[in-house]
Amino acid sequence: MREQDLRELLRSMSLEEKVGQMVQVTGAFLEEDAVITGPAADAGLTADDCRLAGSILGIAGAKRLREIQDRYMEAHPHHIPLLMMADVIHGYKTEFPIPLALGASFRPEAVERAMGMAAAEAASAGLHVTFSPMTDLVRDPRWGRVLESFGESPWLDARMAEAYIRGYQGEDNDLAAPGRIAACDKHFVGYGAPVAGREYNHSELSEHTIREYYLPPKIAAIQAGTACVMPAFQSLNGIPCTAYGKIQRDLLRGELGFEGVTISDWSAVGELVAQGVAEDAREAAKLAIQAGVDIDMMSVCYARNLKDLVESGEVEERLVDEAVWRILTLKNRLGLFEDPYHGSSPEAERRTVLCREHREAAREMVADSLILLKNEGVLPLNPEKKTAFIGPYVDSRDTCGSWAIFQDRADTVTLREGVTECGLGENAEFFQGCQVLENTRVLGFGVEEVFGEPENREELLREAVEAARRADTVVLALGEHTLQSGEASSRGEIVIPSHQMELLRRVAAVNPRVVTVVYAGRPLDLREVERYSAAILVPFLPGTMGGAGIADVLYGRRSPGGRVSMSFPWGTGQIPVYHNDYSTGRPYDPAGAEQKFVSRYLDIPNEPLYPFGFGLTYGSFTYSPVRLSGDEMGAGETLTASVTVTNTGAMEATEKVQLYLRDEKATTVRPRRELKGVKALRLKPGESREAVFAVTEEMLKIWDWEGRFLAEPGAFTVYIGPDSRTENGAGFRYR
Ligand code: NOJ
Repeated sequence: MREQDLRELLRSMSLEEKVGQMVQVTGAFLEEDAVITGPAADAGLTADDCRLAGSILGIAGAKRLREIQDRYMEAHPHHIPLLMMADVIHGYKTEFPIPLALGASFRPEAVERAMGMAAAEAASAGLHVTFSPMTDLVRDPRWGRVLESFGESPWLDARMAEAYIRGYQGEDNDLAAPGRIAACDKHFVGYGAPVAGREYNHSELSEHTIREYYLPPKIAAIQAGTACVMPAFQSLNGIPCTAYGKIQRDLLRGELGFEGVTISDWSAVGELVAQGVAEDAREAAKLAIQAGVDIDMMSVCYARNLKDLVESGEVEERLVDEAVWRILTLKNRLGLFEDPYHGSSPEAERRTVLCREHREAAREMVADSLILLKNEGVLPLNPEKKTAFIGPYVDSRDTCGSWAIFQDRADTVTLREGVTECGLGENAEFFQGCQVLENTRVLGFGVEEVFGEPENREELLREAVEAARRADTVVLALGEHTLQSGEASSRGEIVIPSHQMELLRRVAAVNPRVVTVVYAGRPLDLREVERYSAAILVPFLPGTMGGAGIADVLYGRRSPGGRVSMSFPWGTGQIPVYHNDYSTGRPYDPAGAEQKFVSRYLDIPNEPLYPFGFGLTYGSFTYSPVRLSGDEMGAGETLTASVTVTNTGAMEATEKVQLYLRDEKATTVRPRRELKGVKALRLKPGESREAVFAVTEEMLKIWDWEGRFLAEPGAFTVYIGPDSRTENGAGFRYR
């Protein structure tokens, strides 16, 4: 529709209709089997509140959405199409590994391709907007939503944010093009830092920390053209983001220039009352619209109060008009006025969803994201020798994570199937060993799972131990339950359940060649796993093709490609522990003599168990010293930093060559080092190649003590190596 016609449409709408555009409800008001991703029972919305709602969430499928669209448009006074939104987080039905694992691939270009496929599937099934990417930087693995993040590096998170948005919206951001969906960057801002890692808790972040760590991925998402932004649930430094005008209007729209639609989080407008900043739903609606929330997701506040607030003069109608204009513009950009189904159809869905190309890409992504943390000569497996696959994840289809809301479990490839089908598993045997959980209950999206103790508990264990004794090597597939991570799933003890650890200990007692495969939605405390395992492989929650992708790596068809993107703590007492923390005046040197007045713990190490950037492959790589094109750099100039990398191992593998920067002196305290570049080099045995990086002025910029982003003159060190601990560095001065 032409802009002029859209303006005309807006002018002709009644206030009630305009408010309707600003209301979003779940598809459960229309169809019974919509996915409920929040506390719906408490929302108090009625069918009447939803009559004119401009968007719905949590429901998909071309046939159903086309029917819903037809019914809605026919009844709507201006026949305005409905926006169909949902959480497509790491795939629609072809689930790729969880975002934390995608982050660990260190390969934004592969992630972009994967999200292009996710968009094509979602669009074919009638969706228009996804609530993704979640670009919240994370440091606390107790928080269940770290699974949705890309990790602890602002630079890596920013690259992944761009990759996701380009994948969903296309390089040209033409949302009407076939197979595209609109992105919604979330959560603005600081939701990734809930105090104590407890879900929905407030966050306390200095401006300096927000600017340098938490904002860069958001800025990247906005610059990449994200169509929507979701303000965060929680309060930031005392003000709920939903009601925080300085964050939404001044920072997001004013300073960062975001022109798209903002959508509250689920019932977040109503929660302003519980947060104690609004007296009632009416005041909550007023605060939210004044702060800049365009769409109220699943609360009664806008639907019941906005019209009256405008009519009584408490809220300017201009605010409603501006919000509705942005919503109509999004509908128009998606081409919904011309094609309200956005190219979806049952045929398109059949052709696209779970097609061979998508499944193959998901399988490759598993190998490229799973992290090999330890390998004492046991991997890859020798297919000629007997391998016992043991553990509750051998036959599990619950490996997509709790946000895979549209997946069909039957489509997931289990580890046993992957091994059996890869053609190399002839000498493999399979045993359950134990259940994932015992004597506990977990809550999911409308599901409660209760786990007792199986009657044959001892028999399962005995059988597994016997099999381990007979085998050359044991692959133990262990981990946390898929409902123990994700939203509303913080954990205080981030370990593998104790009865699974008992299985590990008993197996390791009869066979030391144990490869532990860890399924989890977060970096777990793996200290004990490390003690009993000869090799550790972490696929996190690897998605639909998990079993096949893991088998590829176990049998050496592919080399593991993942690198730690969120540090694995040595223990919970260290949390938060991350590579890019600030320098201290009293640093601790673990290699030095006993030191007293230094920054350290008395009882545990400072360093994580597995640091950022770390990950082994089936190759073995050496690095030349860093070469710099000069030892000085002026304003607007660029230096070149390079190394030669050689594969001295016996197998072809991809090395993720990482560039870190350290600002030696500045007006503010600087991180010990910061990731600023990655190059993936695929090298055959004996092959050498150069990794060349540009060091730009942009990379040197810091949030200085006067609140400006600029590069300050002084000394810098460039490090290039296999992980964040590398000492392979060279210095230069910025003039
Ligand atoms: C709450 C989550 O915080 C948000 O990320 C999600 O998109 C909405 N629920 C909708 O499911």
